[in-house]
This record gives sequence, C-alpha cells and structure tokens, in this order.
Amino acid sequence: MGRIEIICSHLTPARMFADVGCDHGYCSRYMLERGLCEKAYLSDISAGSLAKAKGLLRHYFSQGRCEFICADGMKGLPPGCDLVLIAGLGGEEIVRILSEGYLPERFVLQPMKNAEKVRAFLLEKGCGIETDYTFEDGAFYELIAGKREGGSVYGTWEIEYGRDNLAHPSVAFRRKLAAEREKLRGYLKSPMQRESRENILQRQYALEVIIDAIEGDL
Ligand SMILES: C[S@@+](CC[C@H](N)C(=O)[O-])C[C@H]1O[C@@H](n2cnc3c(N)ncnc32)[C@H](O)[C@@H]1O
Repeated sequence: MGRIEIICSHLTPARMFADVGCDHGYCSRYMLERGLCEKAYLSDISAGSLAKAKGLLRHYFSQGRCEFICADGMKGLPPGCDLVLIAGLGGEEIVRILSEGYLPERFVLQPMKNAEKVRAFLLEKGCGIETDYTFEDGAFYELIAGKREGGSVYGTWEIEYGRDNLAHPSVAFRRKLAAEREKLRGYLKSPMQRESRENILQRQYALEVIIDAIEGDL
C-alpha cells in the first residue's frame, strides 16, 4: 500500500471529518465516496493546493457534502469536527495547529518529522494513542491515531520511537533504525565540533541500545 492508502486505512466513520492541509483532497475523497462521513471540511493554507481538492471533489461539493476553507490550520473549521486528519506536515506544525485549534474526538496524524513532539503533546493533553507505528513508502513515515480521552503513560523510548514499533517491531521500523544507524556513522566520518560529535555519539548509543533490545527479542 502507498502512503495515502495507509493513512486512509486508519480513517473511521465520522459525522464531521476535517482534512487539514488537504492539498489534493484524496483522503477526503476516500471518506466521501465510501459514505464514511456526513460532511468533509477541507482546509489548506494555500489557495493553489485547495484548488486541486476543489477540482477533485466538485461532485460532492455540489451535493453540499464538503466545504473548502483557505486558512491556517484549524482556523475556519466549524467546532465539533469529530475526526481530524493532519498528514504530511511537520510534527511541530501539527502540535501548533492542534494547540491553536481544538482536540477532536478522534485524530489521525502523519507527521513528516518530529513525531516524538506530537506524541509528547498528545500524552500531555491526556489523549489516548491507539496506533503509533512506522511505515515505508519510498521514505519512512510515522502514523499516530487515537482519541481525545483515555490517555496512558509512555516511557521515554516509546515517546521517541512509538509504542507499536517497540512492542511489535515491523520490517519498516527495523529498516528505519538501520538507515538511522548508517546516517550517524556517515556523520561521524566528517570533522566536526566536539559538542556535535558528542551529541551524535549519544544518539548512536541510544540507537544501538534500541537495536540490541529489538534483536534480543527475536
Ligand atoms: C505535503 S502536503 C500534504 C497533503 C496531504 N495531507 C497528504 O498527506 O498527502 C502539505 C499541505 O499542507 C498545507 N499546509 C502547510 N501548512 C499548513 C497550515 N499551517 N495550515 C493548513 N495547511 C497547511 C500545504 O499547503 C500543503 O498543501
């Protein structure tokens, strides 16, 4: 499965579905064509991106089943969207958008980087993370899905790497760790300031501990 299909496979039935940073609008089309939401709200900060979604979903718009909002994050969305998707944006941006918007009943998030910041934010807000793993589609991606209630306590490594990855390490997660290991080894071959080297050595140590723990589990 490709990235979009994997994201869509985590979308659950909703009354008001919000696709924040929708770009093409494929995920909203998935919801609409399957009758998984009563109404979809597609928002994007770029009018050009939103125009793509408008073209794709013209038919559903004419039926009043979707609305397009050109805005930053969740600004302009109606209150009470019960499922919010934010995919393809950085983790810090996702945290900012949810902080300035609201925590929906259910969420599906696919941060492009800084997934640990998204996990830490959700846990601090008491959200229940139900799905939290790495997948691969040309690159490595993190998928974090859950609900506003039912928060649990994560350990430091779970925040860093994702609970499902540590509980059931997938091929994609192992490949991601191996790629990270190679990247750090590459960095260490170049000259750099002592502080930077120590920082990389620390990351390398932590990574080796995780890799050992996972291999020991086999
Ligand atoms: C890489 S695309 C991801 C599109 C789609 N969600 C996906 O996962 O394939 C990122 C989209 O987010 C939009 N975007 C970036 N920052 C945003 C923000 N603060 N609020 C709303 N949309 C934003 C961009 O204009 C772009 O269309």
